[in-house]
Amino acid sequence: MKAVSYEGTRKMKVSDHPKPKLKSPTDALLRVTTSGICGSDLHMFDGRTPLDEGTVVGHEIMGVIDEVGDAVSSIKKGDRVVLPFNIACGFCYNCHRGNTHACLTMNPEGASAAYGYAGMGPYAGGQAEFVLVPHADFNCLKLPGTPGDQWEDDFLLLSDVFPTGYHAAELACVSPGKTVAIFGAGPVGLLAAYSSILKGASEVYVVDNIRERLEKAKELGAIPVNFSDGDPVEQIFKLRKKNKGIQQSHRPGEEKLEGVDCAIDAVGYQARDDKNPDKEKQTQALDNVIRVVNPAGAIGLIGVYIAPDPGAKNSDAKRGIFSFPLADLFDKALSLGCGQAPVKRYNEYLRDLIVNGRAKPSQIVSHRIAIEDAPEAYDKFDQRIDGYTKVLIKFGDQKKAA
Ligand SMILES: NC(=O)c1ccc[n+]([C@@H]2O[C@H](COP(=O)([O-])OP(=O)(O)OC[C@H]3O[C@@H](n4cnc5c(N)ncnc54)[C@H](O)[C@@H]3O)[C@@H](O)[C@H]2O)c1
Ligand SMILES: [Zn+2]
Ligand SMILES: [Zn+2]
Repeated sequence: MKAVSYEGTRKMKVSDHPKPKLKSPTDALLRVTTSGICGSDLHMFDGRTPLDEGTVVGHEIMGVIDEVGDAVSSIKKGDRVVLPFNIACGFCYNCHRGNTHACLTMNPEGASAAYGYAGMGPYAGGQAEFVLVPHADFNCLKLPGTPGDQWEDDFLLLSDVFPTGYHAAELACVSPGKTVAIFGAGPVGLLAAYSSILKGASEVYVVDNIRERLEKAKELGAIPVNFSDGDPVEQIFKLRKKNKGIQQSHRPGEEKLEGVDCAIDAVGYQARDDKNPDKEKQTQALDNVIRVVNPAGAIGLIGVYIAPDPGAKNSDAKRGIFSFPLADLFDKALSLGCGQAPVKRYNEYLRDLIVNGRAKPSQIVSHRIAIEDAPEAYDKFDQRIDGYTKVLIKFGDQKKAA
């Protein structure tokens, strides 16, 4: 089968690999119809994670079941499914409590496992024609329709970025009427904005400096803020002051609420320096979310912070140790949530919003490619050029594949 593998910094290769075989009676084999390239894959591509060369990558996966082990009872050959990027067992302490992003049994090196990802266990990725699915009863989400239909791309986004964006909004305590600022207009930031709007937020600001991505944020109903035009936190304070209706309803003291109730860092540890975007400033987004949130507000850190980081500039950063204004966080009594998204907590509800016509996350998809074009797509997505925002790899003749 054809698959995309990591072959060293900024090198992805498409080549033939053996088709996976069932290893346990609880496994299934999935024939992949669509697989996404994620901003998280770029950390590996950039050499910012330790990863064995030859690893098949890709954790955003959907397709049709090709074969199931003897112990699999709820899905069968021919079923159309999407996989959460987190691989979970379903029976450990954390899985029992819905924390499938911290499954205790699937990764011998820690809590949490994923397909084709550095440090996330020995699982091959799904930017490939076939992928092995452990604990298939627990990890497959059943889908209606047929491959290549009007929902294919929406359903693919249920593997990661739609539930991840939604989780970011949950971590930042977004609820009806609240004000939200999101740093990063990549797929995660855009779908965090979309989720915040679905949850009823009254004002949603999205910060980035990539024109196409800011335009997409506007199309989704958010207010774009370009950090190349000046300090984005100050820009948000100013925009909020222009809102006459809100300003006129302030009681004494509320002039101190210049910022927002909820902030989301959808950038992570490869953030650009606002003042000099050619340079990296690893805590730029983290610093900004702390500044922009009003006292007693909430922060969701959904952009990744990973260690070890072989590409970091100093020994602390290589170990993921950063300085940031903890005293401000404490003084403002902010709450902060972070980590991988527990995709399975949300994916079936979000699927039902899609099926019932109430959500269309595939609005953010910019490119649909054949697997042979994956190396070029990695390169362009990594440089954030030519409008590369969300790239989906398509396999086979989807209409006939049903
Ligand atoms: N926690 C999770 O479960 C989870 C899941 C998926 C992705 N992620 C992470 O989310 C982050 C975003 O990924 P993505 O897929 O959206 O793609 P992405 O990496 O392309 O998005 C990052 C965006 O941030 C922008 N950016 C850089 N510096 C900035 C700054 N100082 N201020 C504002 N914006 C800035 C970039 O221009 C880019 O558009 C990555 O770190 C990724 O690893 C986390
Ligand atoms: Zn991802
Ligand atoms: Zn578990």
